Amino acid sequence: MNVEVQPKAYEKRAAEFIASRQQMLIGGAWVDAASGETFEVENPATGQVIAHVPSGDGADIDAAVKAARRALSGPWSKLTPAQRAAMIWRMSDALEASAEEFALIETLDNGKPFTAALNGDLRTCVENMRYNAGWATKLNGEQINPSSPTALLAYTMREPVGVVGLIVPWNFPLTMAVNKLSPALAAGCTVVLKPAEQTPLSALRLGRLVEACGFPEGVVNVVTGFGHTAGQALTDHPDVDKISFTGSTEVGRKILRAAGGNFKRVMLELGGKSPVIIFPDADLDKAIEGASRGIFANTGQTCAANSRLYAHRSVFDRMLEGISERASKLRVGDGTDAATEIGPVVSRTQMQRVLGYVESGRSEGASVAVGGQRRGDQGYFVEPTVLVQTSRSMRVVQEEIFGPVLCAMSFEMDDLDRIATEANDTVYGLSSAVWTRDITTAHLMARKIKAGMVRINGGGVDHALPFGGYKQSGWGREYGREGIEAYTELKTVAVAM
Ligand code: NAI
Ligand code: MG
Repeated sequence: MNVEVQPKAYEKRAAEFIASRQQMLIGGAWVDAASGETFEVENPATGQVIAHVPSGDGADIDAAVKAARRALSGPWSKLTPAQRAAMIWRMSDALEASAEEFALIETLDNGKPFTAALNGDLRTCVENMRYNAGWATKLNGEQINPSSPTALLAYTMREPVGVVGLIVPWNFPLTMAVNKLSPALAAGCTVVLKPAEQTPLSALRLGRLVEACGFPEGVVNVVTGFGHTAGQALTDHPDVDKISFTGSTEVGRKILRAAGGNFKRVMLELGGKSPVIIFPDADLDKAIEGASRGIFANTGQTCAANSRLYAHRSVFDRMLEGISERASKLRVGDGTDAATEIGPVVSRTQMQRVLGYVESGRSEGASVAVGGQRRGDQGYFVEPTVLVQTSRSMRVVQEEIFGPVLCAMSFEMDDLDRIATEANDTVYGLSSAVWTRDITTAHLMARKIKAGMVRINGGGVDHALPFGGYKQSGWGREYGREGIEAYTELKTVAVAM
């Protein structure tokens, strides 16, 4: 019997959305780019063009910033924190109800497996909205006792920082947008969101959802476009109060420079080259599982990816064997296939970049324990890869590859300071992982590592935990109280008594 498989309702909705005319959301209106230009959106699993979106530039950014500025003093500013919280919560409910549609859009645009998009990205987005909705009503200042014997009543209060530009990357397109959007809205800001040119679709779909949830016009604007045009215009704009950026360290540096024009506040979440350190007393099965997930999940396109493995000499072979076995068994394929564990990288450029790093490692004396090749000739698939015989001077050990490539190294010594020195020996300092059963070793390493996060025995990221980088991994923190306070200005009021 030949049973015809009907597309599921969410598959139809995602297909209809992607096929529909894509426009940008500016001041409550759906518009084309002022220039009339568009650019192509590609599915990295097939290399096929699936949509065309407006190529916004300075003129569109200017219109969006003006709309956001108007909205800042409009009905939005009259809402109480509780009303803002309710509106953000409503948005989370709407997103949850459409989670499968959004997940499929993410799969088709970014390449990630549908199940990962649904159970990872979408769940995270819904939770992030709810976590930050809770903060809207809890942004307090404090009463401060003056230090000198003057009669003063003094207190601080928090006000929204103003119009915020959100510039997000392509590795977690919706998640990165939501991680910035929800605290910004909870704090009472208005925003211009610029998604990455590789993955603009979920942000445009989010624009429709925001609109349906009743946010006043201009509170959320979505402008699609390239980094050097739309992104740069947003960063340069004299009427933007803050930029929240996640992406490369190189662009982070450009943003810092541009922000100097009007002293915009800047939050930068940049690259990483995070170490995972395995002590001989670790639970090795769990460490193998954790270290593998830490580098291969999301095809290694994760800012906090554990891309440098340091295992004690006595457990190195066992770790290498375990991770290599996993790497070779992971099912690489189209994210719409339910069996797929690892999708393609996001673009041809990224594939060439990752394969170029593997080549560079080889030429500097590393060898490939497993993987190292492109998979197939359609789409942008790269095999999960482990490099050995790597050392600290090599580019593959120093630079962010942003692909499924692990550099595996062993350490001889038992001196924690020397291990930490090796682990800290890059310009980055975003995250790190330590595996040991010894609580003293664990906490001593936590002190010695120069990174914004130390994950012990598989501890992970959570909306309540501040996340961000030391050194060239960034400025400021996202998530938690620090994450939302970053969308406020602190004002001090001093009353002579
Ligand atoms: P990118 O930093 O160029 O892109 C991130 C965002 O910045 C995009 O929205 C882009 O349009 C925007 N942008 C680019 N130039 C800009 C400018 N001059 N002004 C304002 N905005 C601008 O990253 P790209 O080129 O896509 O990826 C290159 C490498 O960057 C990756 O291989 C990876 O190493 C790193 N990266 C790190 C990420 C992270 O999560 N930390 C995310 C994405 C990339
Ligand atoms: Mg794409």
